[in-house]
Amino acid sequence: MRFIKTKDYEDMSRKAANIIGAQVVLKPASVLGLATGSTPIKTYANLVKDYQNGDLDFSQVSSVNLDEYKGLDRKNDQSYFYFMNDHLFKHVNIDPNRTFLPDGMENDAAKACRDYDGVLKAVGGVDLQLLGIGHNGHIGFNEPSDVFADQTICVDLAESTIQANQRFFASYDDVPKRAYTMGIGTIMAAARILILASGEGKAAIVKAAFFGPVTPKVPASILQFHPDVIVIGDEAAFSQITI
Ligand code: PGA
Repeated sequence: MRFIKTKDYEDMSRKAANIIGAQVVLKPASVLGLATGSTPIKTYANLVKDYQNGDLDFSQVSSVNLDEYKGLDRKNDQSYFYFMNDHLFKHVNIDPNRTFLPDGMENDAAKACRDYDGVLKAVGGVDLQLLGIGHNGHIGFNEPSDVFADQTICVDLAESTIQANQRFFASYDDVPKRAYTMGIGTIMAAARILILASGEGKAAIVKAAFFGPVTPKVPASILQFHPDVIVIGDEAAFSQITI
């Protein structure tokens, strides 16, 4: 694993966008694995800026997102489809027909998972997978568990995740309790992984995930076994590790 320590969130976001941008420049038809959450918001803003400056062209890019809430319509402003559109897709020249997320409105969980695995197979493998890390070590919505899921699954969100997400919803009852997520096996199959961590609140999990035992109780710990992982964190997120 390579660790890149940055001054702060802004610095982390610029460096992350530079790595994603370089991927697109080097391979215009890249398949990007994308993530939602607070952490990558500025990374996407930097990619939009680079596009507007004429430095990036997304016309041949395909994207597959990690996850989507089960039961939220794409028009719901808390859906991950809405997030991606709002922060990236509508601002750049990516082909909307080549942007993929699990179908949150597919009520048949087995079908939703099967369909998304079909999409992941059809795009032909992720070149660069962007990840955030949850306070409990989740990646995508792969919550702490007794096993690592291989392919797309429907998960019951951990109580801590529901509580962390509550800030975006009117009430606890409004927070979706289930989600579809790419499996750990699919994430691990990406050629390169870029994982971001920002702030003091992530310091303990950064240490546990990347310097502790590899265990499905800390899903991100599996990344220690991936041959090409870049961890970009700000000083606060890296405050409990020595690199
Ligand atoms: P955050 O979420 O970026 O909002 O902290 C990270 C995650 O849960 O993956």
